Parts: sequence; C-alpha cells; structure tokens
Amino acid sequence: LNISIIGVPTDYGQTRRGVDMGPSAIRYAGVVERLEAVGHEVHDQGDIRVSQKKEGTIVDKQLLNLEEVIDVSTSLANSVSKALEQKEFPLVLGGDHSIAIGTLAGLGEHFKNLGVIWFDAHADLNTPETTPSGNIHGMPLAVSIGLGHERLVKIRNNVPKIKPENVIIIGARSVDPGERELISQQGIKVYTMHEVDRLGMTRVMEDALAYLRARDIDGLHLSLDLDGLDPLYTPGVGTPVPGGITYRESHLAMEMLQESGMLTSAEFVEVNPILDEKNRTADVAVALMGSLFGETLV
Ligand code: ARG
Ligand code: MN
Ligand code: MN
Ligand code: MN
Repeated sequence: LNISIIGVPTDYGQTRRGVDMGPSAIRYAGVVERLEAVGHEVHDQGDIRVSQKKEGTIVDKQLLNLEEVIDVSTSLANSVSKALEQKEFPLVLGGDHSIAIGTLAGLGEHFKNLGVIWFDAHADLNTPETTPSGNIHGMPLAVSIGLGHERLVKIRNNVPKIKPENVIIIGARSVDPGERELISQQGIKVYTMHEVDRLGMTRVMEDALAYLRARDIDGLHLSLDLDGLDPLYTPGVGTPVPGGITYRESHLAMEMLQESGMLTSAEFVEVNPILDEKNRTADVAVALMGSLFGETLV
C-alpha cells in the first residue's frame, strides 16, 4: 500500500490537555518504520495546522470549542480527500475523537456506501441536546450520520457522510441515555462488551465483516479509540472505562480486518501522552497498526 499518514494535533474535542501530543507520541513509537518493515510505502504528510484558541467567540456549553473543531475538521477533510485523490491509504493520527468528523467528511466524498467499524468504549453518538459534557469528541458518529450542529454536519457539504446501517460499534461499555435511543432509532449495530465476552472476538469480527459485506459497502473505515481497550493496556486516554477489550482480542480484530482485504482507511485517536506511562498507549497503537497492515511473525 501507499500509506499517507496525517497527524491531527488537537485537543479541542474535550477538556483534558495533552491529547494534542498524540501524533508525536505515535511517531515516537515508530509508526513509519513499523509499516515500512511490512513492505508499505509510507508518506508522512506531517501534522495539519491547528490554530490557537480563538478569542472572543461565544461559549456554548453544549458545544465546547465549536469554532476550533470546525476549523480542524475542515482542514482534515481536505487532507483526507487529497490523499484519496492520490490513491493513497489515509492513516489519520489523533488527537481526540472529534477529528473523525473531518476524516469522515473527507471519506464521504469518495465513498458512497462506506462501512465504518467504531472500536470504542463509548458510542460517540451525542448531540448538543443530549451531551452530558459539551465535549464534541462524544459526538462525531452522530454528526457523521447527519445529526447535530448544522455547521459540523455540513462540513464539505455532503450530508450525511455515512449511513447509520453501515456503522458497527465494538467494545461499548459506557453509553448515555440519548445515545441508547439513537442506536435503536437509527439501526446502528453494536457489539457491547457483553457480546465480546459471550461470543468472543472471532465471532464478533466474523459477524461484523459478513454484515458489512452483505451491505455491499464500497470502502471500510476503522475508527479506533484507544479507550476501547481496557485501561490496563492503554492507560493514556482521557476517558478510561474499566472492563474493556484485551490486548490479544484487539490484535485479533486487527488481523481479521487485514485478512478481509476490505479496509480502505483508518484512524487511531485519544492517545494522551501526559496521562500515559512511558508511552505505553502509543506503543500499543503502533503494535495494533502493525497487525492491521499485515505484520506476521513467520
Ligand atoms: N459519552 C461521553 C460524552 O459525551 C464521553 C465521550 C467520550 N468520547 C471519546 N471519544 N473518548 O461526553
Ligand atoms: Mn507514492
Ligand atoms: Mn471512547
Ligand atoms: Mn471515541
């Protein structure tokens, strides 16, 4: 593959500082070398520009840092779109999960029936009406199916970016009341930790991939929030939730995605080196990318 790495050093989607250093931590953990060793051609495009906080903008408690998130999402959508035009595989490094708004806005221009695997402890399906925090990193999936603040929903004008029936959430264990309602209303498929425990990751991934194949998707995006794993393995995240996916299970999921041959883009988000222990979380992110992009032992 020709892989285009796009760093997004932003923390505007939530209120704990440090997640803007995620792209540096992931580069430090050796992402470029790791993927080159598998035989890919890796183009690190560097980081997109994230401006300082704007002064004098109205503070909306249900949509913190709205102007800044719109800015970042717009330039990220441009970069993702450009990578696809050049036939490169976009690999986006966060930053907090609000960046998925920009990634999916860029992808939505090129794929008409995109499948999405959302690997996360959370559903990220809040809207300004339902958010318990005002943090936009809890909203990107809602925005991408067309629900939320209209300036977020309309980035790059293609609304919605993805169909709710093409979305599969894996690893959920912290879902807010408004999100639960959206899940059933919109027909979003969710494998909570209950299903992961009960079926095992093999079955979960087999079912998920078969479901998406049957929906005749024309591309598949992986949005991987490092808090989907148990905080035992990835302590450097802003919103840890105990009882998560193990290291082995997540590697297996990555390997099965690789074997499917369906993946067309990926993003890894919420690595916060300030909250981390000796860059462990970025190390895990890069190890998972190794499996996702075809690393084998023998
Ligand atoms: N559901 C909570 C909220 O809306 C937490 C969201 C956490 N999202 C994340 N991408 N880590 O604030
Ligand atoms: Mn090239
Ligand atoms: Mn999360
Ligand atoms: Mn998330």
